[in-house]
Amino acid sequence: MLSEALTKALSEQVNAEYYSAYLYLGMSAYADREGYKGIANWFFIQAQEERAHAVHLYQHILERGASPVFTDIQAPPASFAGIKDVFEKVLAHERGVTARINKIASMAAEEKDHATYNFILWYVNEQVEEEKNAGEIISKINLMGNSPALLFHLDSELAARTFTDPFAGGSA
Ligand SMILES: [Fe+2]
Ligand SMILES: [Fe+2]
Repeated sequence: MLSEALTKALSEQVNAEYYSAYLYLGMSAYADREGYKGIANWFFIQAQEERAHAVHLYQHILERGASPVFTDIQAPPASFAGIKDVFEKVLAHERGVTARINKIASMAAEEKDHATYNFILWYVNEQVEEEKNAGEIISKINLMGNSPALLFHLDSELAARTFTDPFAGGSA
């Protein structure tokens, strides 16, 4: 059975994942409006992944005999100062998510809840990827000086991303 503190922390993480999905859907809409269909595609898939994370966390709470606590999902920003600004906000957001995940891992370790600790390690690894992906895109934009030619190239590159369910193989 999950402790009350971990139930609260994991429930807050369900909310945070839905907020991430909302944030990335907003970024997808922004990119689409600006004419960057490939970048819009990347964010649309990013939002799908975040929703999969939310459901996966929710399922862990139920499996451990607890009840998730639902709260309001905050509205994401509606406008951005360009594509570089969008990805800088992604990196800042993902760093914040990493801090939350690390806190849950520490709580699970302190409580000796090995099942939750093992469960949350998947997210510890996932956050390394999330920060790396955002950081690499920002580096590319910086290298080319945020030029329209680079953004066109980046748009084509990000158009290739497709969605695969991160938990399809029954991992974590
Ligand atoms: Fe996530
Ligand atoms: Fe994420």
